[in-house]
Amino acid sequence: MKKILAISGSLRAGSSNHNILKHLGTLTPADVEYTIYTDLAQIPPFDPGLDSDNPPTSVAALRKLLVEASGIVICTPEYACGVPGQLKNMLDWMVSSSSFVDKPVCLITASSSGTHAHAALLLTLGALSANVVDGAALLIPFIRAKMDADGNLVDEETMESLKRIFKEFLNSI
Ligand SMILES: Cc1cc2nc3c(=O)[nH]c(=O)nc-3n(C[C@H](O)[C@H](O)[C@H](O)COP(=O)(O)O)c2cc1C
Repeated sequence: MKKILAISGSLRAGSSNHNILKHLGTLTPADVEYTIYTDLAQIPPFDPGLDSDNPPTSVAALRKLLVEASGIVICTPEYACGVPGQLKNMLDWMVSSSSFVDKPVCLITASSSGTHAHAALLLTLGALSANVVDGAALLIPFIRAKMDADGNLVDEETMESLKRIFKEFLNSI
């Protein structure tokens, strides 16, 4: 069975990015397993001295999930004109392993603006030799205005864009 691992760059309860990932889960065909990763907060600060074949437990567990995944969705806000620290920290742990190499990735940056984080992530994913799928990267600005008070997406154009990019991503895995 094909497996998708979805990772949110926001640790916030009620996060818009987490809600987008939940929305994508509803668009996933029944024959594809879709899992939202929930342990990003457990990844320790990157330490090259500990970056071995026997890394901290949470890092080893995530590397295994990534290797087993047919494709990865990353959905993140931008903080202070950059990639949220905990997401970048996790990606740093993945440089030495082959977890992202040639792995189909769908990249969504949903933020107030998000341009800097989106561009930086494309560079970082390039450094990891990930395969950011053609047509499966999307920047969603003004994200809070596109959701209702319960965190449901209510902007039709955004929902159409998500459907389009997710289809491209699904075709690639
Ligand atoms: C510390 C902090 C810094 C932020 N800096 C930016 C920024 O530089 N650019 C931007 O587009 N949004 C910025 N935002 C706003 C976030 O994009 C917005 O809060 C977004 O909804 C967070 O995603 P979430 O709902 O998934 O938690 C910032 C938010 C916080 C808390």
